[in-house]
Amino acid sequence: MTDLRTTYLGLELDSPIVASAGPLTGDADRMKDLELHGASAIVLPSLFEEQIEHETNEIDRLFSLHHDSFGEATSMLPEIDDYNSGVDCYLDLVEAAKSAVDIPIIASLNGTNIGGWLRYAQLLQDAGADAIELNLYAVAADPIVSGAALESEHFGLVALLADELTIPLAVKISPNYSSLSSFVVGLQEAGAAGVVMFNRFYLPDLDLETLDIMPRIALSTPEELRLPLRWTGILREHLSMSIAASTGVHSGYDVAKLILVGADVAMTTSALLRNGAAHLATIEAQLRDWMSEHEYESVTQMRGAVSRASSADPSAYERANYIGNLASYTSNFLGRSPISLRN
Ligand SMILES: Cc1cc2nc3c(=O)[nH]c(=O)nc-3n(C[C@H](O)[C@H](O)[C@H](O)COP(=O)(O)O)c2cc1C
Repeated sequence: MTDLRTTYLGLELDSPIVASAGPLTGDADRMKDLELHGASAIVLPSLFEEQIEHETNEIDRLFSLHHDSFGEATSMLPEIDDYNSGVDCYLDLVEAAKSAVDIPIIASLNGTNIGGWLRYAQLLQDAGADAIELNLYAVAADPIVSGAALESEHFGLVALLADELTIPLAVKISPNYSSLSSFVVGLQEAGAAGVVMFNRFYLPDLDLETLDIMPRIALSTPEELRLPLRWTGILREHLSMSIAASTGVHSGYDVAKLILVGADVAMTTSALLRNGAAHLATIEAQLRDWMSEHEYESVTQMRGAVSRASSADPSAYERANYIGNLASYTSNFLGRSPISLRN
C-alpha cells in the first residue's frame, strides 16, 4: 500500500490532498463529506478584511454614540456583541468544523491591511483553528505605491501575525510580485510556516449592452496547473517552510506532478465544485495508481524528485526553454524539422 502521509505547516496529514477555501468548506455537513471522501485538511472560506473593518467601525460608532449617555462606555459591550457583522458567525464556523471532523481545520483571513486582524486571528486560534491561512488578496492599483513599499507592508503584517500566534501561519499569495522568489523567501524570514501558491484573482468583464463592469467567477482549468508547477519547482530548494500548490489541481496526476516538483500538499476547489466531494476519492485513487505504476512507495520519496535543483534540465523551469519551445511549435506548425532561432 502506498504511503500518502505528508507534513504541512507542522501538521501530520494522511495525504497531500487538501480542500482549499471555497463554498464547499463553509458548512459542517459538507466538511464531513470532504473528510469522508479523503480530504486530509480543510481550509475554511475567508473572513474578509471588509467584514472586520465593518465590525470595527460599528464598535467605534456605538461607543461614540453612547459615550455621553453612560458613565462607563464598557457597559455598551453586550449591545455591541449583539451586533453580528459576520465575525461571530465565522468563529462559530471554526467551532462547528472542529467538532464535525477530525482532520485539521485551517481558518482563513483575506486582505492586506493590518486593521483589527491581530485580535481576530487570536480569536480564531482560541476557537480551535489548527492553523491560519492569510490570503494577501490585493490588486496593486495605486501607481504611487511601489512594489517595494507594498511588499514591505505585507512582510510587516506576516511578522506581526506570526509573532503573536502560537498556531502556524500560511500565506496565500498571487503570482504578481516582481521578484516572486525573493518575496516568498522574505515571507519565510518574516515567520510564515508555509506558502500557498497561488490564489486566483477574479477578473472583471464588461457588459457591452449595459456598459457595466461585471465581476465574473470562472472555475479553473487543468492547464492552469503550470503556474504553481513552475514556481513550486523553482522555490523548493530555497525554502524550509511548507509549500501548498493551489490552482488547476483537477486530478491525482496533477497532485503527483506537484509533489514531484516539491509541494508538500496540493489544494483543490474548482474540481470539487464541478464534480462534488466524491471526486476526492478519484484524485486519491489516481495518485495511488501513478505511484504504484512508477514504483514510488511514499509521498516522501517522491517529493522534489524533479524540482529545479534535482532536475536533469533546470533551465526548463526558466527562460531558456522558451526559445526551444517556440522553435518546435513553429516547425510543427509549418510541418518541417526544427529551425534554429539563433541564426
Ligand atoms: C466560488 C469560490 C470561492 C472561493 N472563496 C475563497 C475564499 O473565501 N478564500 C480564499 O482564500 N480563496 C477562495 N477561493 C479560491 C480557492 O481557494 C482557490 O485558491 C482557487 O479557486 C484556485 O484553486 P482551484 O484551481 O482548485 O479552484 C474561492 C474559489 C471559488 C471558485
